[in-house]
Amino acid sequence: MCGIVGYIGKSNTSEILVDGLKELEYRGYDSAGIAILKSDKIEVYKALGKIVNLEEKVSHNECTLKEDGFSIGIGHTRWATHGKPTELNAHPHLGEYSYVVHNGIIENYKELKDELIEAGHKFVSQTDTEVIVHLFEFYFNQNNDADLSFDLTIKRLEGAYSILLITKSQQNKIFFMKHGSPMAIAKGKNEGEILFASSDAPLIGLASDVVYLEDGVSGVASSSGLTFSTKVSWSTLSNSKQFAQKDGFRFFMEKEIYEQSDVVVDSMMGRLQDDSISFDELDPSLLDGINEIKICACGTSYHAGLTSTYLFERFSKIRCSIEIASEFRYKEPLLTKDTLFVVISQSGETADTLEALKMAKNAGLKTIVVCNVDNSSMTRVADTTILTRAGIEKGVASTKAFSTQAVVLWMMALSFGDIKNNISKEVLKKEIKVLREVPLALKVEDSVHEKCKRLSKRYLHGHGFFFIGRDVFFPLALEGALKLKEISYLHAEGYPAGEMKHGPIALADPELFTIALMPQHLHYDKIKSNVEELSARDSTICAISPLPFDLADDFINTKKTDHYMLEFFEMLIVLQIFSMEITVRLGNDVDMPRNLAKSVTVE
Ligand code: F6R
Repeated sequence: MCGIVGYIGKSNTSEILVDGLKELEYRGYDSAGIAILKSDKIEVYKALGKIVNLEEKVSHNECTLKEDGFSIGIGHTRWATHGKPTELNAHPHLGEYSYVVHNGIIENYKELKDELIEAGHKFVSQTDTEVIVHLFEFYFNQNNDADLSFDLTIKRLEGAYSILLITKSQQNKIFFMKHGSPMAIAKGKNEGEILFASSDAPLIGLASDVVYLEDGVSGVASSSGLTFSTKVSWSTLSNSKQFAQKDGFRFFMEKEIYEQSDVVVDSMMGRLQDDSISFDELDPSLLDGINEIKICACGTSYHAGLTSTYLFERFSKIRCSIEIASEFRYKEPLLTKDTLFVVISQSGETADTLEALKMAKNAGLKTIVVCNVDNSSMTRVADTTILTRAGIEKGVASTKAFSTQAVVLWMMALSFGDIKNNISKEVLKKEIKVLREVPLALKVEDSVHEKCKRLSKRYLHGHGFFFIGRDVFFPLALEGALKLKEISYLHAEGYPAGEMKHGPIALADPELFTIALMPQHLHYDKIKSNVEELSARDSTICAISPLPFDLADDFINTKKTDHYMLEFFEMLIVLQIFSMEITVRLGNDVDMPRNLAKSVTVE
């Protein structure tokens, strides 16, 4: 996540940057900062937390660089990934005479940092970003050519990033590069003005023409214009801020579904090596004396947790169970100190999960929270916090929170197996390779979205839905049913496929829709038999599978992969989009469904 802004022009630069950051605040608000360059002076302001804190600082100091000619500036609002949310880690980052803001991840930052330290550069932050500005100055010190140095710098960077860099050595320029993370550039309404932002929301009202940079495009902006490394196409800027905040998607939920492929990269960043998995936050000695894992969560987080119970037992060979937090609290649970207590929560504020965590803590258990929001109540209580790094989730129906939780928990299961010596190096390496393919599995294919949209017509009128699956596809079935019911208000249940004949199959008739999760690589024949039984009793079947299935009334074809977890994420996308498209047809509010709240802070 994170948001960046930039400005060249004669207007009040600090005001434009701060206003722009406010529009991007939804992308993260751990800290914010701006740097303004005029002649050979650079003024920098940074503040922790929300943009108002930065605004106060800027206005208090009354930004001494008055705009009596062109000035240039860059700004950033941060969602911490590398390094804690501190002022030192806040952007813009300084070398000796240059500043940079960055959205994304520099994957090879460790090796670059070592190389630069060797060359005498001094680092002050824990971020990956700081290497960019030092690398630029490393080259500039050799060749005295800012354009060339910027080109040499970006050639060395691996990962996903968009960057704005300013330098005293070239006082009227902003250097920019986009690779993986978004960046829009607009021509301002006043003469010579150029604006940059991570989405077009900050540009609305200030500019009418915009270019959304493609990956791999870099360039330079100055008071005399813009140059790009390749041809770009300009378009007209929308007038609607709401539309812009959603990056052009119709709903936050849709935007967040599409974002999953990017945010899971953040979830894995710095944690995956070729043959091991490690979490900076997790001391392996935490597992000393641990023979059991107990997980507690609610709703979608519960479904991610249930998925992980299969993975913890499979990969770490530690007994693992899960309970719904509101049930756990009142059942007088037996808690023993050889149990590691794990809570999962997007918000870190869910009352029942928080209370369950406190109970475990008070009973002397070691505790971990897998959470999306740093500094939330749960992160303050738990011994260890593992952040999922999904970025702010605005849609009430959780999407990217689930996929990032599932990825993080799967990594934890593998890492625990490694720490306990319960997983072979071959299996670990193979799973790591598969983890790296998850972003691709989460990419939304146009054809899949179109298919869901078309099918949504057919699934509006019936007396209910069964979502069925086996193994990890059972929690996924629960999650699919929850997504559908919470936004479409249609009745849906998730079931383990093998359980149908123990009662639920009595409901089967043509008006009962079965959404069957049929992965190729996990119990395909077993689930096939279960679906055949439902089909024989006339239930309308929508099969989601990479393999064709003759008895299906409808079929959503997922890509062929070679691992069930990749099928899991492919199917997750289908379920989320399917629910959303049905909801659109029904005319319900996708982002704010009735009766629900994003954070459930009452029991
Ligand atoms: C469903 C959903 C809820 C939450 C649940 C727990 O889409 O969002 O079911 O998953 O309220 O919330 P957290 O994860 O914040 O503890």
